[in-house]
Amino acid sequence: MKPGETNITITLQNVFKRFDEVTALDDIKVVFEAGTLTTLLGPSGCGKTTLLRLISGLEKVSGGDIWFGDDKVTDLSATRRDVGMVFQSYALFPHMTVEQNVGYGLGVLKTPQDKIKERVREVLDMVNLDGYQARYPDELSGGQQQRVAVARALILEPKVLLFDEPLSNIDSKLRRSMREEIRHLQQSTGITSIYVTHDQSEALAVSDEVVVMKDGRIVQKGPPRSLYHRPESAFVANFIGESNVVEAVLVNGNDGHRVELGGIGLALPDDMHIPAKPGPVKLSLRPEVLHIEEKSEDKDSACLDGVVTESAYMGPVIEYSVKTAVGDLFTRGPAYETQHPKGEQVQVRIRPDEIIVIPGNAD
Ligand SMILES: Nc1ncnc2c1ncn2[C@@H]1O[C@H](COP(=O)(O)OP(=O)(O)OP(=O)(O)O)[C@@H](O)[C@H]1O
Ligand SMILES: [Mg+2]
Repeated sequence: MKPGETNITITLQNVFKRFDEVTALDDIKVVFEAGTLTTLLGPSGCGKTTLLRLISGLEKVSGGDIWFGDDKVTDLSATRRDVGMVFQSYALFPHMTVEQNVGYGLGVLKTPQDKIKERVREVLDMVNLDGYQARYPDELSGGQQQRVAVARALILEPKVLLFDEPLSNIDSKLRRSMREEIRHLQQSTGITSIYVTHDQSEALAVSDEVVVMKDGRIVQKGPPRSLYHRPESAFVANFIGESNVVEAVLVNGNDGHRVELGGIGLALPDDMHIPAKPGPVKLSLRPEVLHIEEKSEDKDSACLDGVVTESAYMGPVIEYSVKTAVGDLFTRGPAYETQHPKGEQVQVRIRPDEIIVIPGNAD
């Protein structure tokens, strides 16, 4: 690797990681494109932190290889990989000032003091904290501490930036502006970045690509929109956004595709992508595809009958759970509409053009 080279591709080739009995990562094959920000999403214990630690070199692979661009880094130590890491806990040194915390890595490299001072000012400026050099961590807000942690990672001009749930200790309002700052910084520096979060709206908002993991494997990778609109499994449909996964039967008749569920039939648009064969299928019905209405006398083929089992006023919206023939469906209605109380008989209208057919044979 040449010094100062940015925009490198990270490639994992058949990577395994075992801890005694536990296989934390199982045959991971993935490419993180140069200059992009990719989010890793998945349930607790699926291997996200382990994947970051392998890329950083803090942990060694049990099998497979890791490449930064054309360089194989599998056997390089963490200090020789040029990776910056930002953790959930910030890990700032409490007895050091902001300047000392940020300059620490350069100090270890025996960089002259005046040069360190100048670089600290530059990176603090990048995170909007120039002027805070003399403060101690406990004199900063959570968001400011997190920015110091980011500055500390940036000062070493890393080729790769890894974030492990960097915002989970920050309240939700500040989290939104912090995630935008991180995104902005990533785009302006072009450093290939991998970001772990539990928060899927954060993932959709900041990422070029999202990787969904389950049990040490990658189950789907793609841009946020494709994961949301084209989940390849019920697991991904449930994990990305909210989803009602229901059983249905796909029928291919003379007039095109139709799905039958709970005693009703819905014609699917001609141009819809249908990744399954006729027969039993699973559908993902996003809450925004369902609309609760007063029950009408005339049977409407686009509506399932149901009874409201939960009805919660949330400010701008009302959240409902409705018991129907295909199971409990979760949806929202605008708060300006009259609230349907718990126990009311209603009908749930399904917008056929927004139904997602989950690919055949997927779980
Ligand atoms: N040092 C270790 N020794 C033994 N097992 C470990 C070690 N580190 C991780 N594991 C195991 O590997 C699996 C993956 O852990 P990892 O920390 O990567 O999950 P994660 O996706 O980051 O979860 P979380 O969302 O809770 O942070 C888990 O089963 C975990 O118990
Ligand atoms: Mg973790």
